[in-house]
Amino acid sequence: MVDRPPYVHRRWPNYSAPKLIFWASIFAALILFLIFHSPPPEISSERRTAATWGGLNWEKRVQISARPRSNSPSHSGGAGHLSVLVTGAAGFVGSHVSTALKRRGDGVVGLDNFNSYYDPSLKRSRQKLLEKSGVFVVEGDINDAVLLHTLFDIVAFTHVVHLAAQAGVRYAMKNPGSYVHSNIAGLVSIFEACKSANPQPSIVWASSSSVYGLNSKVPFSEKDQTDKPASLYAATKKAGEEIAHTYNHIYGLSITGLRFFTVYGPWGRPDMAYFFFTKDILKGKPIQIFEGPDHSSVARDFTYIDDIVRGCLGAIDTAEKSTGSGGKKKGVAQLRVFNLGNTSPVPVIKLVSILEKLLKVKAKKNVLPMPRNGDVLFTHANISSAKKELHYKPTTDLQTGLKKFVHWYLEYYSGNSEKRS
Ligand SMILES: NC(=O)c1ccc[n+]([C@@H]2O[C@H](COP(=O)([O-])OP(=O)(O)OC[C@H]3O[C@@H](n4cnc5c(N)ncnc54)[C@H](O)[C@@H]3O)[C@@H](O)[C@H]2O)c1
Repeated sequence: MVDRPPYVHRRWPNYSAPKLIFWASIFAALILFLIFHSPPPEISSERRTAATWGGLNWEKRVQISARPRSNSPSHSGGAGHLSVLVTGAAGFVGSHVSTALKRRGDGVVGLDNFNSYYDPSLKRSRQKLLEKSGVFVVEGDINDAVLLHTLFDIVAFTHVVHLAAQAGVRYAMKNPGSYVHSNIAGLVSIFEACKSANPQPSIVWASSSSVYGLNSKVPFSEKDQTDKPASLYAATKKAGEEIAHTYNHIYGLSITGLRFFTVYGPWGRPDMAYFFFTKDILKGKPIQIFEGPDHSSVARDFTYIDDIVRGCLGAIDTAEKSTGSGGKKKGVAQLRVFNLGNTSPVPVIKLVSILEKLLKVKAKKNVLPMPRNGDVLFTHANISSAKKELHYKPTTDLQTGLKKFVHWYLEYYSGNSEKRS
């Protein structure tokens, strides 16, 4: 027998329709009054004491970091003239993109909350490197509207490269709220700050190949439908693409979404298979390799970090200006989405055999059926759009890229077993 919820038997008092409409209108008016007359959000005392930003010295550091090498106006809108806010700058992709921008002469300010999803000391090491190259990383959350408005008050950013997110597919089953916080609320917070800025910056942000979800037609093309996400992570990235459409449509923000395909390389993310396989193989710990139905292999379109960075720079350099200002749209703005992959999927078992050779250690492998944890069986990018419009051309095969990763890994963790645990 099915239990009926208690409200099923409850009867409404006998109100007449005009009375109900009257009271509903009074209620709606009251809500609207409260919304429009409530004071702006205050910085709580807790936030104030925990604040890691603010003050004259801090402002000066932001200004210096944001300053492009050449102050003369650029006619091509290209390198050496931009002021870029990079969110997630202490992350894997963010640290590489920030360094590349700074190296070619652009001004860069980083923003990161240094959360502990994976070892924050790795993020701190990336931050140290960034500081050496002249990039100041502001410590704060992308949901902190006051911080974002302060940054836009100090610097007229020409571009925002938004890479901060809760990454990882499997962790979404443990901590779903962190995906909503960073990938939905955080994205809206960034778009809100950008739409109100004057001038509005152009935005390049990281979506993900995971939006292709359970699609089986390969290679994945931007024209394919993306309505079957296999994980909450994928669903938040897909939602992000729809939210981007809205902000482009209403406020004239120029927005480019980049669907990255399994990025790997030096300074990578410890939660990704190539990284923890390396760690476990070296420790002599068994690794789990998943396979699909009928022992089919799981494959990924592994893409080397330098290729991804070139794709990001291509997106920045071809981004048109936003058309709005101060929250008002003045015309139609650019809205784009591109796959950034390698176009040559490699079975995970092949990845392991390359690692075994590079590390000169045989892996202890446990082959298991893939659990339903949000992972998909394969990814494969069609990159013809990015080739045409961003001049994107990946050049690094998995063997070459993993060699560079292993070289970095051994050097970074050599003699420092604490970092490795
Ligand atoms: N690496 C990949 O293979 C891959 C693939 C597809 C998409 N992406 C996307 O690319 C972007 C960069 O990924 P990554 O691999 O460098 O990940 P990462 O975790 O190394 O970098 C993300 C950074 O954002 C920061 N961050 C997270 N939430 C934040 C918040 N609320 N406020 C401020 N900072 C916050 C984290 O501390 C971290 O340093 C992400 O948007 C990710 O979803 C990555």
